[in-house]
Amino acid sequence: MARKNVAAGNWKMNTNISQGIELAQTISNAGRDKEVLVILAVPFTHIFALQKKVKTSSKVILAAQTCHHKTSGAYTGEISPTMLADMKVPYVVLGHSERREYNHENNSLLAAKLRAALDAGLKVIFCCGESLEIRKAGTHISYVKTQLTESLFQLDAQEMKNIVIAYEPIWAIGTGETASPVQAQDMHAAIRDMLRKKYGKRVADNTSILYGGSVKGSNAKELFGQADVDGGLVGGASLNGQEFVQIINSF
Ligand code: 13P
Repeated sequence: MARKNVAAGNWKMNTNISQGIELAQTISNAGRDKEVLVILAVPFTHIFALQKKVKTSSKVILAAQTCHHKTSGAYTGEISPTMLADMKVPYVVLGHSERREYNHENNSLLAAKLRAALDAGLKVIFCCGESLEIRKAGTHISYVKTQLTESLFQLDAQEMKNIVIAYEPIWAIGTGETASPVQAQDMHAAIRDMLRKKYGKRVADNTSILYGGSVKGSNAKELFGQADVDGGLVGGASLNGQEFVQIINSF
């Protein structure tokens, strides 16, 4: 089984429900040049309406942008992985740098969230990536290795089938500054090598690794053309239906 091409949109805290429906319809109605798994990580408030109004099935599937690490309890404002599974949401994004920064999510909390999400039957897009300071210091590969080792690598080889990794350098998120195709490829190859060492060739070859950080219609083709880049996790450009369709058709 070869790994999949994945185009994932992360809407973050954007759009109202009617805008979300229109956007998702544009994406699900568009033609596809190739087989691509399209995932939309939408606000919790949109999930029910999108399931009703958009043909989510095989053309577009939904993800939540985070979940709690417990299944239920006195955690005001939180959404548990079992609630998402109950709503038949297949994916959840965990470890996004914005959650790490603004919600103080560290590697050990993310390990607990990963455990809870997989136990609930969800698949996970797991994000990693370094700050500009770390990139400048030249320690980005070992930094990402620590992020993966302290959270993701608690999983066994069988569970890794339910994981998509997204490498998102923080300095490229929402800045308009994209990692060069060579920078992306170097990190993706390093991550695949970590997977090979930890789990063996089969898991390494079959795990999709996405690049995120200012992916646009104009640069997606070159990024996705790199040997170890299996697609993108797209923020800003995923809010424009036509542009996201262009990104989906960049494989
Ligand atoms: P941008 O594409 O807006 O840089 O955001 C990337 C991102 O954070 C996706 O999760």
